[in-house]
Formats: sequence, structure tokens, C-alpha cells
Amino acid sequence: MAKKKTITQTRPLSLSTRSIHGKKLFAYQGPVALPIYQTSTYRFASSDDAVRFAKGDPSVYVYTRYHNPTVRDVEETIALMEGADEAVLFSSGMAAITTAILSVTHAGDEIISTPALYGGTYRWFRDELPKLQVGVTWIDPRRLSDLPALVSPRTRIVYLETPTNPTLGLVDIEEVVRQTRIAEKKAGHRILVMIDNTFASILNQKPFELGVDVVTESATKYLGGHSDIVAGVIVGSSSFVKTVRGLAKHHGGCLDPFAAYLLGRSLKTFELRVQRQNVNAFALAAALEKHPRVKRVLYPGLTSHPQHALALKQMSGYGGMVTIEVKPSKRLSPVEAAAKVADNLRVAVNAMSLGGVETLVSIPVYSSHIFMDDAELARHGVAPGMIRISVGVEAVDDLIADFDQALRTI
Ligand SMILES: Cc1ncc(COP(=O)(O)O)c(C=O)c1O
Repeated sequence: MAKKKTITQTRPLSLSTRSIHGKKLFAYQGPVALPIYQTSTYRFASSDDAVRFAKGDPSVYVYTRYHNPTVRDVEETIALMEGADEAVLFSSGMAAITTAILSVTHAGDEIISTPALYGGTYRWFRDELPKLQVGVTWIDPRRLSDLPALVSPRTRIVYLETPTNPTLGLVDIEEVVRQTRIAEKKAGHRILVMIDNTFASILNQKPFELGVDVVTESATKYLGGHSDIVAGVIVGSSSFVKTVRGLAKHHGGCLDPFAAYLLGRSLKTFELRVQRQNVNAFALAAALEKHPRVKRVLYPGLTSHPQHALALKQMSGYGGMVTIEVKPSKRLSPVEAAAKVADNLRVAVNAMSLGGVETLVSIPVYSSHIFMDDAELARHGVAPGMIRISVGVEAVDDLIADFDQALRTI
């Protein structure tokens, strides 16, 4: 914390000057709450500052697409939370993911990925990366020992998401890292292991402790936590983040200072919120598992989850995401039944996204997995009767009663 500066003004500042500049003139590092530097640009003390910036002096601020003190403060907080050197914020989770990948791949390179990804990521890998001549090889997460054989001299990244959206399948993170290190030896060059940690969040899964190199997260979800911002973050080593910042400057997906302020504010209650979401999700999943209109419940914390042992190994909490599949009804197709449940909920909200304090539901075949053909849906394990639930922090009895009444309408 900087010492309070001594005021050296030779004449008293006018009221308007004080009201414009406030306490920042005297002790800009002093406020308890994070100031919002809602500015696109910064005053130079002298023209030399432009030269100092060009030569790499990090103390000179020049333009908010490059850097902003509010954004920077939140980046430092997230890096501290994640136990990494550095974090860099973006205007969305997709901007973070795409920039992370593009910062280390060039035409002719390849990445290897597990296929059960957030729909937007999957479609970008499938439809856009090939246009840039970056190849994508899919690996079956049940056969990770295949990984070294899939690696080529141009493989740069092994990418994974766990738990997966919306089926809450798990990928063995330590095994991905282990196989990648074996593959690296064969390839003779470094291969980064990158994870999208959005679903678990840092409270429930600590990828760096498991050997992962880069973490991306949609900060729109648990980090933001209030369904009021869209943001993304890349977390990693100083050298990786330096490369990312270079590209991010050109691609321009910087986070707005006000959104950064809201994110920073949300981080103060991150642990409280996610702890409660863990508890609520577990109780709701257990209750729905016994419900007569529910065919199955997918939740890593349940002993019925096929990978519960892996959840115990690599997660410290099971998260707030629960997926159910409704039982077929005589009158309704599976997707009609799922839609009827979603439309009859009174507490939970039928809306996309996840991770906020309010419980949200969405039907994967109508949202994240729309426009996928039957073969792709089958490959992703997505069924038409599924409802994905992002459990919030409401009283869990209200949620259980709400799902019970909605399920009884089918
Ligand atoms: C797991 C996961 N990763 C990435 C994203 C993309 O994040 P954003 O919507 O902030 O771009 C999402 C969005 O739903 C997501 O669920």
C-alpha cells in the first residue's frame, strides 16, 4: 500500500477539480472498495511516457485495451485465487478460450481435445480452427493411453473440460497430464495441457496442483456468480500470459472496467456462494434420484455416478451442476416432457447460462447442443429428455418442492 501522498499544491484546488479527481489525487491506492477506472486512455506525465511504454515499462498506462488498473486488480486477485503466476481477463469465456489456443498455434499445427465440450467451444474447434489450418484430433477420455500415438510433431495443446457439459462426465486430469508428458518426449517439444475449469471452479478443482499448464474459465459463471456480466479469464505462467497479452492486444477482447469491478466484487463472496451451491446441488440431486418421474440423475457427488471414484480423487467438492433425464411419458416425447418440466418451474428459472445465485435450467438439445445431428448427440451422450440444472443458493427445500411440482405435470 502506497503511503498517503503529501499535498504539494501551491494553491487550493477548485471544487470541480476535486470533484472530478476525488481522493485519487491524494491516495489512489487507499480505498477499501476497488475504484473503477472507467477510462479508455491515460494522461501522460510527459511525452516520454509513450516512449517508456513502447520500451516495456509496465508502470506506464496508455490505453484500456492494453491494460486498466481495475481490470489488473481483479486479474491479480484471480491469479492469487488460482495459485498461478498470472491471469488475464477477457470480455467473454469464448474470447479467453480462443485467444489461449491461438496464442500458441499457427497454420499447420494441431491440438488434441476431448470431445465432450461446451457447445460453443466444440463448434469453434470443429468449424473455425480448420479454416485457420489448425487440426483437431479427438481423444476418447476413456482411452487416454492412446494420447501419445495421436501426437504429431505439430501438436501444441491437449485440451480438456471436466466435468463436461451437460452430462457431467469426468476426465482424469492427472492421467491426461501424465500421457501428455510421455507424448512430449516422443514429439521432442513442449505440449501444453489446457483445461476449461468453468464447471467445477477453483473451489472444487485445482488444476495447477494436478500438473495442468493453462486454465481457462468463463467468469460469466461461478466467478461472476450473479448473471450480470459476461467475462472470461486465462490463468497460467508469466511467460504464457505474456504471449497471450500480445495477441489479446490485437484481437481486442478486453474486459470493460465496470464488468471487472462487478467481477471483483463477486469474488469477495465466491467461496460462500459456491460452498452453498455444492450443498444445495448434492441435496437436490439426491432428492431427484428418488423421484418417480426422473429416469436418471447425473451428479459426480452421487455414488451412482459411474465416475464417482474419480470425482473423489480429483475434486474437493462436486459443484452446483446437476443434469436429470426425465422418464418418458405416454403423451409426450422426451424433449416435450423436459420442456414441460422447465416451463412449469416457479422458483428455478428457464434460462441459459449457469453459476449464478439463482437456480437456472436449460434443455441441452434446445440450447448448448442445438444443431448437432443424432450421431454427434450420441457421441456427446446427450439425450432429448435431459434438463441441465445450475443450482443456486436458494433454500434447498424450496428447490426440491419446485422440481417435485413441475415433474408431476408430465
Ligand atoms: C464450460 C463453458 N466454457 C466456456 C463457456 C463460454 O463462456 P462465455 O459465454 O462467457 O463466452 C461456457 C458458456 O456457457 C461454458 O459453459
